[in-house]
Amino acid sequence: MNPQTFNRFRDIVYDRAGIHLNQNKVALVSSRIGKRMRELGCAKPEDYLKVLSHDAEGEEMVLFLDSITTNLTRFFREEKHFVFLERVVSDWLKAGQKKFRLWSAACSTGEEPYSMGISVCSLLSTDNIDLRILATDLSTDVLRKAQSGVYESSKLAEIPDRTRKRFFRPCPHDPDRFEVRDNLKQIISFRRLNLSLPPFPMQGPMDVIFCRNVMIYFDDEVRAKLVLEAHRLLRNGGYLLVGHSESLTGLKHPFAPVGPAIYQKRV
Ligand SMILES: C[S@@+](CC[C@H](N)C(=O)[O-])C[C@H]1O[C@@H](n2cnc3c(N)ncnc32)[C@H](O)[C@@H]1O
Repeated sequence: MNPQTFNRFRDIVYDRAGIHLNQNKVALVSSRIGKRMRELGCAKPEDYLKVLSHDAEGEEMVLFLDSITTNLTRFFREEKHFVFLERVVSDWLKAGQKKFRLWSAACSTGEEPYSMGISVCSLLSTDNIDLRILATDLSTDVLRKAQSGVYESSKLAEIPDRTRKRFFRPCPHDPDRFEVRDNLKQIISFRRLNLSLPPFPMQGPMDVIFCRNVMIYFDDEVRAKLVLEAHRLLRNGGYLLVGHSESLTGLKHPFAPVGPAIYQKRV
Protein backbone atom coordinates (compact mmCIF):
# COMPACT_ATOMS: atom_id res chain seq x y z
CA MET A 1 0.00 0.00 0.00
CA ASN A 2 1.49 3.34 -0.93
CA PRO A 3 1.81 6.09 1.74
CA GLN A 4 -0.95 8.28 0.26
CA THR A 5 -3.43 5.43 0.29
CA PHE A 6 -2.46 4.51 3.84
CA ASN A 7 -2.93 8.15 4.92
CA ARG A 8 -6.46 8.18 3.51
CA PHE A 9 -7.35 5.01 5.46
CA ARG A 10 -5.65 6.50 8.54
CA ASP A 11 -7.71 9.70 8.29
CA ILE A 12 -10.99 7.80 7.95
CA VAL A 13 -10.14 5.67 10.99
CA TYR A 14 -9.30 8.76 13.05
CA ASP A 15 -12.38 10.75 11.96
CA ARG A 16 -14.78 7.84 12.43
CA ALA A 17 -13.35 6.07 15.46
CA GLY A 18 -10.78 8.35 17.07
CA ILE A 19 -8.21 5.58 16.57
CA HIS A 20 -4.75 6.94 15.94
CA LEU A 21 -2.77 4.78 13.47
CA ASN A 22 0.88 5.65 13.10
CA GLN A 23 2.95 4.97 9.99
CA ASN A 24 4.11 1.54 11.20
CA LYS A 25 0.54 0.25 10.90
CA VAL A 26 0.62 -0.09 7.08
CA ALA A 27 0.92 -3.89 7.22
CA LEU A 28 -1.83 -4.10 9.84
CA VAL A 29 -4.29 -2.08 7.75
CA SER A 30 -3.41 -4.09 4.59
CA SER A 31 -4.06 -7.39 6.29
CA ARG A 32 -7.21 -6.24 8.15
CA ILE A 33 -8.96 -4.99 5.00
CA GLY A 34 -7.92 -8.05 2.96
CA LYS A 35 -11.04 -10.07 3.75
CA ARG A 36 -13.48 -7.29 2.76
CA MET A 37 -11.47 -6.60 -0.41
CA ARG A 38 -11.72 -10.26 -1.43
CA GLU A 39 -15.43 -10.38 -0.63
CA LEU A 40 -16.07 -7.25 -2.71
CA GLY A 41 -13.70 -8.24 -5.52
CA CYS A 42 -11.44 -5.21 -5.00
CA ALA A 43 -8.06 -5.79 -6.64
CA LYS A 44 -6.27 -2.86 -4.97
CA PRO A 45 -6.65 -0.94 -1.67
CA GLU A 46 -7.54 2.12 -3.80
CA ASP A 47 -10.60 0.23 -5.12
CA TYR A 48 -11.71 -0.42 -1.56
CA LEU A 49 -11.22 3.26 -0.69
CA LYS A 50 -13.59 4.11 -3.54
CA VAL A 51 -16.22 1.73 -2.16
CA LEU A 52 -15.82 3.32 1.27
CA SER A 53 -16.05 6.85 -0.03
CA HIS A 54 -19.32 6.03 -1.81
CA ASP A 55 -20.74 4.51 1.36
CA ALA A 56 -19.69 7.11 3.91
CA GLU A 57 -22.59 6.59 6.31
CA GLY A 58 -23.42 3.01 5.41
CA GLU A 59 -22.81 -0.58 6.11
CA GLU A 60 -19.36 -0.78 4.55
CA MET A 61 -18.02 1.85 6.97
CA VAL A 62 -19.28 -0.26 9.89
CA LEU A 63 -17.59 -3.38 8.43
CA PHE A 64 -14.38 -1.45 7.76
CA LEU A 65 -14.23 -0.19 11.36
CA ASP A 66 -15.04 -3.72 12.59
CA SER A 67 -12.01 -4.98 10.68
CA ILE A 68 -9.67 -2.29 12.05
CA THR A 69 -10.45 -2.63 15.76
CA THR A 70 -8.35 -4.88 18.00
CA ASN A 71 -10.58 -6.92 20.27
CA LEU A 72 -8.28 -8.87 22.55
CA THR A 73 -9.87 -9.52 25.94
CA ARG A 74 -10.45 -12.25 28.50
CA PHE A 75 -12.55 -13.07 31.56
CA PHE A 76 -11.36 -11.27 34.71
CA ARG A 77 -8.57 -9.47 32.81
CA GLU A 78 -6.59 -7.34 35.29
CA GLU A 79 -8.24 -9.24 38.09
CA LYS A 80 -7.63 -6.68 40.85
CA HIS A 81 -10.24 -4.42 39.26
CA PHE A 82 -12.89 -7.09 39.84
CA VAL A 83 -11.78 -7.51 43.45
CA PHE A 84 -12.12 -3.72 43.78
CA LEU A 85 -15.60 -3.80 42.20
CA GLU A 86 -16.72 -6.48 44.68
CA ARG A 87 -15.39 -4.43 47.56
CA VAL A 88 -17.08 -1.13 46.65
CA VAL A 89 -20.40 -2.75 45.77
CA SER A 90 -20.29 -4.65 49.04
CA ASP A 91 -19.68 -1.36 50.92
CA TRP A 92 -22.54 0.33 49.07
CA LEU A 93 -24.84 -2.61 49.84
CA LYS A 94 -24.00 -2.35 53.53
CA ALA A 95 -24.84 1.36 53.34
CA GLY A 96 -28.30 0.44 52.01
CA GLN A 97 -27.84 1.08 48.27
CA LYS A 98 -30.18 -1.11 46.20
CA LYS A 99 -29.77 0.23 42.69
CA PHE A 100 -26.53 -0.26 40.75
CA ARG A 101 -25.64 0.99 37.29
CA LEU A 102 -22.37 -0.25 35.77
CA TRP A 103 -20.92 0.37 32.32
CA SER A 104 -18.36 -1.63 30.37
CA ALA A 105 -17.25 0.91 27.74
CA ALA A 106 -15.46 -1.01 24.94
CA CYS A 107 -16.75 -4.40 26.05
CA SER A 108 -15.32 -6.33 23.07
CA THR A 109 -16.67 -9.91 22.96
CA GLY A 110 -18.34 -9.61 26.37
CA GLU A 111 -15.86 -11.16 28.77
CA GLU A 112 -15.51 -7.87 30.68
CA PRO A 113 -19.23 -7.11 31.34
CA TYR A 114 -19.92 -10.78 32.14
CA SER A 115 -16.99 -10.75 34.60
CA MET A 116 -18.42 -7.58 36.18
CA GLY A 117 -21.81 -9.26 36.48
CA ILE A 118 -20.32 -12.41 37.98
CA SER A 119 -18.36 -10.35 40.53
CA VAL A 120 -21.40 -8.42 41.71
CA CYS A 121 -23.90 -11.31 41.56
CA SER A 122 -21.53 -13.50 43.56
CA LEU A 123 -22.03 -11.07 46.45
CA LEU A 124 -25.78 -11.15 46.58
CA SER A 125 -29.06 -12.52 45.50
CA THR A 126 -30.09 -10.32 42.59
CA ASP A 127 -33.77 -10.65 43.63
CA ASN A 128 -33.62 -7.75 46.05
CA ILE A 129 -31.55 -5.33 44.05
CA ASP A 130 -31.80 -3.47 40.81
CA LEU A 131 -28.57 -4.24 38.93
CA ARG A 132 -28.04 -3.27 35.28
CA ILE A 133 -24.84 -3.38 33.24
CA LEU A 134 -24.52 -1.43 30.01
CA ALA A 135 -21.95 -2.91 27.64
CA THR A 136 -20.93 -0.95 24.55
CA ASP A 137 -18.46 -1.24 21.72
CA LEU A 138 -17.88 0.25 18.28
CA SER A 139 -17.56 -3.12 16.56
CA THR A 140 -20.78 -4.86 15.56
CA ASP A 141 -18.85 -8.13 15.13
CA VAL A 142 -17.79 -8.31 18.75
CA LEU A 143 -21.19 -7.14 19.99
CA ARG A 144 -22.84 -10.05 18.17
CA LYS A 145 -20.51 -12.51 19.85
CA ALA A 146 -20.93 -10.81 23.23
CA GLN A 147 -24.71 -10.94 22.97
CA SER A 148 -24.67 -14.65 22.08
CA GLY A 149 -22.74 -15.30 25.30
CA VAL A 150 -21.19 -18.48 23.85
CA TYR A 151 -17.54 -19.19 24.67
CA GLU A 152 -15.13 -22.07 24.09
CA SER A 153 -14.39 -23.97 27.28
CA SER A 154 -10.72 -22.92 27.10
CA LYS A 155 -11.81 -19.29 27.64
CA LEU A 156 -13.39 -20.25 30.96
CA ALA A 157 -10.31 -22.03 32.27
CA GLU A 158 -9.60 -19.33 34.88
CA ILE A 159 -13.13 -19.41 36.30
CA PRO A 160 -13.59 -21.72 39.32
CA ASP A 161 -15.93 -24.69 38.67
CA ARG A 162 -18.59 -23.52 41.13
CA THR A 163 -18.81 -20.08 39.52
CA ARG A 164 -18.80 -21.59 36.04
CA LYS A 165 -21.71 -23.89 36.90
CA ARG A 166 -23.72 -21.02 38.38
CA PHE A 167 -23.30 -18.65 35.42
CA PHE A 168 -22.72 -20.89 32.36
CA ARG A 169 -24.28 -24.03 30.92
CA PRO A 170 -22.76 -26.41 28.37
CA CYS A 171 -24.10 -25.85 24.84
CA PRO A 172 -26.45 -28.79 24.14
CA HIS A 173 -24.84 -29.85 20.86
CA ASP A 174 -21.27 -28.81 21.50
CA PRO A 175 -19.72 -29.96 24.76
CA ASP A 176 -16.65 -27.85 24.11
CA ARG A 177 -18.62 -24.60 24.35
CA PHE A 178 -20.51 -22.92 27.17
CA GLU A 179 -23.31 -20.38 27.11
CA VAL A 180 -23.91 -17.65 29.69
CA ARG A 181 -27.06 -18.46 31.69
CA ASP A 182 -30.09 -16.18 31.44
CA ASN A 183 -29.72 -15.01 35.07
CA LEU A 184 -26.51 -13.21 34.04
CA LYS A 185 -27.47 -12.34 30.44
CA GLN A 186 -30.63 -10.56 31.45
CA ILE A 187 -28.88 -7.90 33.53
CA ILE A 188 -26.64 -6.81 30.63
CA SER A 189 -27.64 -4.62 27.66
CA PHE A 190 -25.32 -4.52 24.65
CA ARG A 191 -25.26 -1.42 22.41
CA ARG A 192 -23.07 0.05 19.69
CA LEU A 193 -21.41 3.26 20.87
CA ASN A 194 -18.51 5.24 19.48
CA LEU A 195 -16.40 6.45 22.41
CA SER A 196 -14.63 9.04 20.29
CA LEU A 197 -17.78 11.08 19.71
CA PRO A 198 -19.19 12.37 23.00
CA PRO A 199 -21.68 13.43 24.24
CA PHE A 200 -23.25 9.97 24.59
CA PRO A 201 -27.01 9.43 24.64
CA MET A 202 -27.10 7.80 28.11
CA GLN A 203 -28.57 9.57 31.12
CA GLY A 204 -26.45 8.14 33.91
CA PRO A 205 -25.75 8.39 36.68
CA MET A 206 -23.41 5.39 36.67
CA ASP A 207 -21.82 3.92 39.79
CA VAL A 208 -18.80 2.38 38.06
CA ILE A 209 -17.38 2.66 34.55
CA PHE A 210 -14.82 0.18 33.20
CA CYS A 211 -13.13 1.86 30.22
CA ARG A 212 -10.11 -0.35 29.82
CA ASN A 213 -7.62 -1.04 27.08
CA VAL A 214 -9.28 1.21 24.53
CA MET A 215 -7.77 4.61 25.31
CA ILE A 216 -4.38 3.28 24.16
CA TYR A 217 -5.76 3.63 20.61
CA PHE A 218 -6.73 7.29 21.09
CA ASP A 219 -4.64 10.46 21.15
CA ASP A 220 -4.75 12.90 24.09
CA GLU A 221 -7.48 15.04 22.55
CA VAL A 222 -9.90 12.11 22.18
CA ARG A 223 -8.91 10.66 25.57
CA ALA A 224 -9.46 13.99 27.35
CA LYS A 225 -12.99 14.36 25.93
CA LEU A 226 -13.84 10.76 26.79
CA VAL A 227 -12.63 11.10 30.37
CA LEU A 228 -14.71 14.28 30.84
CA GLU A 229 -17.77 12.51 29.49
CA ALA A 230 -17.19 9.57 31.86
CA HIS A 231 -17.01 12.15 34.67
CA ARG A 232 -20.33 13.67 33.60
CA LEU A 233 -22.02 10.26 33.54
CA LEU A 234 -20.74 9.07 36.92
CA ARG A 235 -22.48 9.89 40.16
CA ASN A 236 -20.53 11.67 42.85
CA GLY A 237 -18.42 8.99 44.59
CA GLY A 238 -18.52 6.73 41.50
CA TYR A 239 -15.43 5.17 39.92
CA LEU A 240 -13.71 5.13 36.55
CA LEU A 241 -11.37 2.19 35.92
CA VAL A 242 -8.93 2.30 33.02
CA GLY A 243 -6.43 -0.28 31.73
CA HIS A 244 -3.28 -0.68 33.80
CA SER A 245 -1.19 0.65 30.91
CA GLU A 246 -3.47 3.68 30.47
CA SER A 247 -3.01 5.85 33.55
CA LEU A 248 -4.45 9.35 33.18
CA THR A 249 -1.12 10.87 34.20
CA GLY A 250 -0.28 13.75 31.89
CA LEU A 251 -3.93 14.34 31.02
CA LYS A 252 -5.89 17.23 32.53
CA HIS A 253 -8.85 15.57 34.27
CA PRO A 254 -11.18 16.15 37.22
CA PHE A 255 -10.82 12.71 38.92
CA ALA A 256 -9.11 11.79 42.17
CA PRO A 257 -6.73 8.81 41.72
CA VAL A 258 -7.53 6.22 44.39
CA GLY A 259 -5.71 3.06 43.26
CA PRO A 260 -3.83 1.52 40.33
CA ALA A 261 -5.77 2.70 37.24
CA ILE A 262 -8.75 3.58 39.48
CA TYR A 263 -10.22 7.09 39.67
CA GLN A 264 -13.06 8.51 41.76
CA LYS A 265 -15.45 11.36 41.00
CA ARG A 266 -15.49 13.76 43.94
CA VAL A 267 -17.34 17.03 43.67
C1 LIG B 1 -8.54 -4.45 23.39
S1 LIG B 1 -10.31 -4.40 23.46
C2 LIG B 1 -10.57 -4.13 25.20
C3 LIG B 1 -11.71 -4.96 25.74
C4 LIG B 1 -11.93 -4.87 27.25
N1 LIG B 1 -12.30 -3.54 27.67
C5 LIG B 1 -10.72 -5.35 27.99
O1 LIG B 1 -10.04 -4.53 28.63
O2 LIG B 1 -10.43 -6.55 27.95
C6 LIG B 1 -10.62 -2.79 22.77
C7 LIG B 1 -12.05 -2.60 22.31
O3 LIG B 1 -12.26 -1.23 22.03
C8 LIG B 1 -13.16 -1.12 20.94
N2 LIG B 1 -13.04 0.22 20.35
C9 LIG B 1 -12.05 0.74 19.61
N3 LIG B 1 -12.32 2.00 19.25
C10 LIG B 1 -13.53 2.29 19.77
C11 LIG B 1 -14.36 3.44 19.75
N4 LIG B 1 -14.02 4.54 19.10
N5 LIG B 1 -15.54 3.38 20.41
C12 LIG B 1 -15.92 2.27 21.07
N6 LIG B 1 -15.18 1.15 21.13
C13 LIG B 1 -13.99 1.16 20.49
C14 LIG B 1 -12.73 -2.24 20.02
O4 LIG B 1 -13.75 -2.61 19.13
C15 LIG B 1 -12.38 -3.35 21.02
O5 LIG B 1 -13.43 -4.24 21.20
